[in-house]
Amino acid sequence: MTNSWLSTSGEDLSAGYARHMATLRGAVRHALVARALRTHLPAGSQQVLDVGGGDGHQAAQLARIGHQVTVLDPDPAMLAQARQRLKGEPGQVQQRVRLVQGSGHEAADLVGGGYDLVLCHGVLMYVETPEAFVADLVAAARPGGLVSLLTKNRDALAMRPGLEGRWADALQVMNAHAETGNLGVTSRAHTAADIDAMLAGAGASTTAWYGVRAFTDHLGDIPVGDDSDTLLDAEWEAGRHDPYRRIARLLHFIAQATPQDIP
Ligand SMILES: C[S@@+](CC[C@H](N)C(=O)[O-])C[C@H]1O[C@@H](n2cnc3c(N)ncnc32)[C@H](O)[C@@H]1O
Repeated sequence: MTNSWLSTSGEDLSAGYARHMATLRGAVRHALVARALRTHLPAGSQQVLDVGGGDGHQAAQLARIGHQVTVLDPDPAMLAQARQRLKGEPGQVQQRVRLVQGSGHEAADLVGGGYDLVLCHGVLMYVETPEAFVADLVAAARPGGLVSLLTKNRDALAMRPGLEGRWADALQVMNAHAETGNLGVTSRAHTAADIDAMLAGAGASTTAWYGVRAFTDHLGDIPVGDDSDTLLDAEWEAGRHDPYRRIARLLHFIAQATPQDIP
Protein backbone atom coordinates (compact mmCIF):
# COMPACT_ATOMS: atom_id res chain seq x y z
CA MET A 1 0.00 0.00 0.00
CA THR A 2 1.37 3.44 -0.89
CA ASN A 3 0.81 6.27 1.58
CA SER A 4 -2.96 6.56 1.09
CA TRP A 5 -3.29 9.94 2.82
CA LEU A 6 -0.62 11.58 0.69
CA SER A 7 -1.93 10.07 -2.55
CA THR A 8 -5.33 11.71 -1.81
CA SER A 9 -4.17 14.86 -0.03
CA GLY A 10 -5.25 18.36 -0.98
CA GLU A 11 -7.67 21.01 0.21
CA ASP A 12 -10.73 18.76 -0.20
CA LEU A 13 -9.26 16.13 2.13
CA SER A 14 -8.04 18.63 4.73
CA ALA A 15 -11.43 20.43 4.65
CA GLY A 16 -13.27 17.09 4.93
CA TYR A 17 -11.11 16.17 7.91
CA ALA A 18 -11.84 19.52 9.58
CA ARG A 19 -15.61 18.97 9.09
CA HIS A 20 -15.37 15.47 10.56
CA MET A 21 -13.39 16.60 13.59
CA ALA A 22 -16.05 19.23 14.38
CA THR A 23 -18.72 16.51 14.83
CA LEU A 24 -19.48 14.57 18.00
CA ARG A 25 -17.23 11.72 16.85
CA GLY A 26 -14.30 14.08 16.34
CA ALA A 27 -14.91 15.81 19.66
CA VAL A 28 -15.07 12.47 21.52
CA ARG A 29 -11.79 11.36 19.99
CA HIS A 30 -9.97 14.58 20.88
CA ALA A 31 -11.40 14.66 24.42
CA LEU A 32 -10.56 11.02 25.23
CA VAL A 33 -7.02 11.28 23.85
CA ALA A 34 -6.45 14.50 25.81
CA ARG A 35 -7.74 12.83 28.99
CA ALA A 36 -5.34 9.90 28.55
CA LEU A 37 -2.43 12.29 27.94
CA ARG A 38 -3.29 14.22 31.12
CA THR A 39 -3.29 10.92 33.00
CA HIS A 40 0.19 9.90 31.84
CA LEU A 41 2.17 13.10 31.28
CA PRO A 42 4.52 14.06 34.10
CA ALA A 43 4.24 17.54 35.62
CA GLY A 44 6.11 20.45 34.05
CA SER A 45 6.74 21.63 30.52
CA GLN A 46 7.56 18.76 28.14
CA GLN A 47 9.29 18.69 24.75
CA VAL A 48 6.69 17.14 22.44
CA LEU A 49 6.97 15.89 18.84
CA ASP A 50 3.61 15.48 17.07
CA VAL A 51 4.23 13.27 14.03
CA GLY A 52 1.41 13.77 11.52
CA GLY A 53 0.12 16.57 13.74
CA GLY A 54 -1.87 17.86 10.78
CA ASP A 55 -4.16 20.78 11.58
CA GLY A 56 -2.39 21.52 14.88
CA HIS A 57 -5.36 20.85 17.17
CA GLN A 58 -3.35 18.70 19.57
CA ALA A 59 -0.29 20.98 19.36
CA ALA A 60 -2.30 24.08 20.27
CA GLN A 61 -3.98 22.28 23.16
CA LEU A 62 -0.61 21.18 24.63
CA ALA A 63 1.06 24.55 23.99
CA ARG A 64 -1.75 26.32 25.87
CA ILE A 65 -0.75 24.41 29.04
CA GLY A 66 2.95 25.20 28.63
CA HIS A 67 4.43 22.39 26.53
CA GLN A 68 6.83 22.99 23.61
CA VAL A 69 5.49 21.23 20.52
CA THR A 70 7.06 20.41 17.15
CA VAL A 71 4.57 19.31 14.48
CA LEU A 72 6.11 17.18 11.71
CA ASP A 73 3.71 16.58 8.81
CA PRO A 74 4.26 16.14 5.05
CA ASP A 75 0.89 17.54 3.90
CA PRO A 76 1.02 21.27 3.04
CA ALA A 77 -2.79 21.57 3.15
CA MET A 78 -2.89 20.26 6.74
CA LEU A 79 0.02 22.49 7.79
CA ALA A 80 -1.80 25.49 6.28
CA GLN A 81 -4.73 24.71 8.59
CA ALA A 82 -2.34 24.47 11.54
CA ARG A 83 -0.85 27.87 10.65
CA GLN A 84 -4.35 29.34 10.47
CA ARG A 85 -5.33 27.82 13.81
CA LEU A 86 -2.23 29.18 15.53
CA LYS A 87 -3.01 32.72 14.34
CA GLY A 88 -6.03 32.61 16.67
CA GLU A 89 -3.87 31.73 19.69
CA PRO A 90 -2.07 34.15 22.06
CA GLY A 91 1.53 35.00 21.09
CA GLN A 92 3.13 32.84 23.79
CA VAL A 93 1.17 29.79 22.62
CA GLN A 94 2.23 30.45 19.02
CA GLN A 95 5.84 30.65 20.13
CA ARG A 96 5.69 27.23 21.72
CA VAL A 97 4.70 25.51 18.44
CA ARG A 98 7.04 24.80 15.53
CA LEU A 99 5.64 23.50 12.22
CA VAL A 100 7.95 21.40 10.02
CA GLN A 101 7.02 19.82 6.69
CA GLY A 102 8.22 16.23 6.28
CA SER A 103 7.51 12.57 6.92
CA GLY A 104 7.86 10.82 10.27
CA HIS A 105 10.53 8.70 8.59
CA GLU A 106 12.64 11.86 8.30
CA ALA A 107 12.27 12.86 11.95
CA ALA A 108 15.91 12.25 12.91
CA ASP A 109 17.16 14.51 10.09
CA LEU A 110 14.47 17.20 10.23
CA VAL A 111 13.62 17.64 13.90
CA GLY A 112 16.18 15.55 15.84
CA GLY A 113 15.34 13.31 18.80
CA GLY A 114 15.31 13.17 22.59
CA TYR A 115 11.65 14.20 22.97
CA ASP A 116 9.81 13.67 26.27
CA LEU A 117 6.66 12.73 24.37
CA VAL A 118 6.12 11.61 20.77
CA LEU A 119 2.53 11.74 19.50
CA CYS A 120 1.24 9.93 16.45
CA HIS A 121 -2.55 10.12 16.24
CA GLY A 122 -4.52 8.89 13.25
CA VAL A 123 -1.48 8.42 11.01
CA LEU A 124 -0.28 4.81 11.23
CA MET A 125 -3.27 3.60 9.18
CA TYR A 126 -2.07 5.50 6.09
CA VAL A 127 1.69 4.85 6.00
CA GLU A 128 3.43 2.31 3.74
CA THR A 129 5.48 0.46 6.36
CA PRO A 130 3.89 0.63 9.84
CA GLU A 131 6.64 -1.30 11.67
CA ALA A 132 9.39 0.96 10.34
CA PHE A 133 7.22 4.00 11.12
CA VAL A 134 6.74 2.94 14.74
CA ALA A 135 10.50 2.35 15.02
CA ASP A 136 11.10 5.96 13.87
CA LEU A 137 8.59 7.25 16.44
CA VAL A 138 10.23 5.38 19.30
CA ALA A 139 13.69 6.49 18.14
CA ALA A 140 12.58 10.13 18.42
CA ALA A 141 11.75 9.73 22.12
CA ARG A 142 14.39 10.09 24.84
CA PRO A 143 15.11 6.95 26.89
CA GLY A 144 12.20 6.77 29.34
CA GLY A 145 10.14 9.17 27.20
CA LEU A 146 6.55 8.42 26.19
CA VAL A 147 5.01 7.51 22.86
CA SER A 148 1.28 8.08 22.28
CA LEU A 149 -0.10 6.12 19.34
CA LEU A 150 -3.70 6.25 18.10
CA THR A 151 -4.85 4.03 15.27
CA LYS A 152 -7.76 2.02 13.87
CA ASN A 153 -8.89 -1.14 15.69
CA ARG A 154 -8.94 -4.15 13.38
CA ASP A 155 -11.07 -6.19 15.78
CA ALA A 156 -13.85 -3.59 15.54
CA LEU A 157 -13.99 -2.84 11.80
CA ALA A 158 -17.43 -4.42 11.43
CA MET A 159 -18.97 -2.54 14.39
CA ARG A 160 -19.74 0.72 12.58
CA PRO A 161 -21.47 -0.77 9.52
CA GLY A 162 -23.11 -3.44 11.70
CA LEU A 163 -24.64 -0.93 14.14
CA GLU A 164 -25.71 1.25 11.20
CA GLY A 165 -27.56 -1.72 9.68
CA ARG A 166 -25.24 -1.99 6.66
CA TRP A 167 -25.04 -5.77 6.81
CA ALA A 168 -23.16 -6.40 3.54
CA ASP A 169 -20.51 -3.83 4.51
CA ALA A 170 -20.20 -5.42 7.95
CA LEU A 171 -19.61 -8.83 6.39
CA GLN A 172 -17.06 -7.42 3.97
CA VAL A 173 -14.80 -5.93 6.66
CA MET A 174 -15.36 -8.60 9.33
CA ASN A 175 -11.93 -10.18 8.75
CA ALA A 176 -10.31 -7.38 6.76
CA HIS A 177 -7.02 -5.61 7.49
CA ALA A 178 -8.05 -2.35 5.78
CA GLU A 179 -11.17 -0.40 4.81
CA THR A 180 -12.22 2.83 3.16
CA GLY A 181 -13.22 5.27 5.90
CA ASN A 182 -15.62 8.21 5.84
CA LEU A 183 -12.99 10.47 4.22
CA GLY A 184 -12.83 8.10 1.23
CA VAL A 185 -9.22 7.16 2.02
CA THR A 186 -8.12 3.53 2.36
CA SER A 187 -6.71 2.86 5.79
CA ARG A 188 -5.16 -0.08 7.57
CA ALA A 189 -6.25 -1.38 10.94
CA HIS A 190 -4.29 -3.19 13.64
CA THR A 191 -5.18 -5.31 16.63
CA ALA A 192 -4.09 -4.33 20.13
CA ALA A 193 -1.67 -7.27 20.06
CA ASP A 194 -0.17 -5.96 16.76
CA ILE A 195 0.46 -2.53 18.27
CA ASP A 196 1.92 -3.92 21.45
CA ALA A 197 4.29 -6.14 19.43
CA MET A 198 5.32 -3.29 17.09
CA LEU A 199 6.14 -1.07 20.06
CA ALA A 200 8.08 -3.86 21.77
CA GLY A 201 10.00 -4.55 18.55
CA ALA A 202 10.94 -0.87 18.41
CA GLY A 203 12.15 -0.80 22.03
CA ALA A 204 9.11 0.58 23.88
CA SER A 205 6.86 -1.10 26.42
CA THR A 206 3.13 -0.48 26.67
CA THR A 207 2.16 1.46 29.80
CA ALA A 208 -1.59 1.46 29.13
CA TRP A 209 -4.05 1.23 26.27
CA TYR A 210 -7.53 2.60 25.77
CA GLY A 211 -10.42 2.08 23.39
CA VAL A 212 -11.71 5.30 21.82
CA ARG A 213 -15.39 5.57 20.74
CA ALA A 214 -17.02 2.40 21.99
CA PHE A 215 -20.50 3.99 22.18
CA THR A 216 -20.56 6.86 19.66
CA ASP A 217 -18.86 5.63 16.51
CA HIS A 218 -22.07 4.67 14.70
CA LEU A 219 -23.87 7.97 15.30
CA GLY A 220 -22.85 9.59 12.02
CA ASP A 221 -21.87 13.22 11.73
CA ILE A 222 -24.11 14.60 14.46
CA PRO A 223 -23.05 17.69 16.42
CA VAL A 224 -21.97 17.71 20.07
CA GLY A 225 -25.05 17.69 22.34
CA ASP A 226 -25.85 19.04 25.81
CA ASP A 227 -24.99 15.78 27.57
CA SER A 228 -21.37 15.62 26.41
CA ASP A 229 -19.83 15.52 29.92
CA THR A 230 -21.79 12.40 30.87
CA LEU A 231 -21.18 10.90 27.46
CA LEU A 232 -17.42 11.45 27.81
CA ASP A 233 -17.41 9.86 31.27
CA ALA A 234 -19.21 6.81 29.85
CA GLU A 235 -16.81 6.60 26.88
CA TRP A 236 -13.79 7.00 29.16
CA GLU A 237 -14.90 4.18 31.45
CA ALA A 238 -15.72 1.93 28.49
CA GLY A 239 -12.35 2.74 26.94
CA ARG A 240 -10.51 1.54 30.05
CA HIS A 241 -12.24 -1.80 30.48
CA ASP A 242 -12.69 -5.08 28.66
CA PRO A 243 -14.78 -6.05 26.78
CA TYR A 244 -15.86 -2.53 25.71
CA ARG A 245 -12.43 -1.16 24.79
CA ARG A 246 -11.91 -4.12 22.45
CA ILE A 247 -14.84 -3.10 20.22
CA ALA A 248 -14.02 0.63 20.17
CA ARG A 249 -13.26 2.19 16.80
CA LEU A 250 -9.74 3.33 17.72
CA LEU A 251 -6.93 2.08 19.93
CA HIS A 252 -4.87 4.55 21.96
CA PHE A 253 -1.56 3.21 23.26
CA ILE A 254 0.74 4.95 25.73
CA ALA A 255 4.19 3.36 25.73
CA GLN A 256 7.56 4.14 27.30
CA ALA A 257 10.81 4.07 25.34
CA THR A 258 13.18 1.74 27.18
CA PRO A 259 15.04 3.74 29.83
CA GLN A 260 18.85 3.46 29.62
CA ASP A 261 20.56 1.49 32.39
CA ILE A 262 22.15 3.70 34.99
CA PRO A 263 25.83 2.63 35.22
C1 LIG B 1 -6.16 11.89 9.91
S1 LIG B 1 -4.93 13.11 9.92
C2 LIG B 1 -4.55 13.18 11.66
C3 LIG B 1 -4.11 14.53 12.10
C4 LIG B 1 -3.85 14.69 13.61
N1 LIG B 1 -2.78 13.85 14.07
C5 LIG B 1 -5.08 14.44 14.44
O1 LIG B 1 -5.05 13.57 15.30
O2 LIG B 1 -6.09 15.11 14.25
C6 LIG B 1 -3.55 12.21 9.27
C7 LIG B 1 -2.28 13.02 9.19
O3 LIG B 1 -1.18 12.12 8.93
C8 LIG B 1 -0.26 12.81 8.12
N2 LIG B 1 0.69 11.86 7.49
C9 LIG B 1 0.49 11.01 6.46
N3 LIG B 1 1.63 10.36 6.16
C10 LIG B 1 2.57 10.78 7.04
C11 LIG B 1 3.94 10.49 7.24
N4 LIG B 1 4.60 9.61 6.47
N5 LIG B 1 4.60 11.13 8.22
C12 LIG B 1 3.96 12.02 9.03
N6 LIG B 1 2.65 12.35 8.87
C13 LIG B 1 1.96 11.74 7.90
C14 LIG B 1 -1.17 13.53 7.14
O4 LIG B 1 -0.51 14.53 6.42
C15 LIG B 1 -2.27 14.04 8.05
O5 LIG B 1 -1.99 15.31 8.55
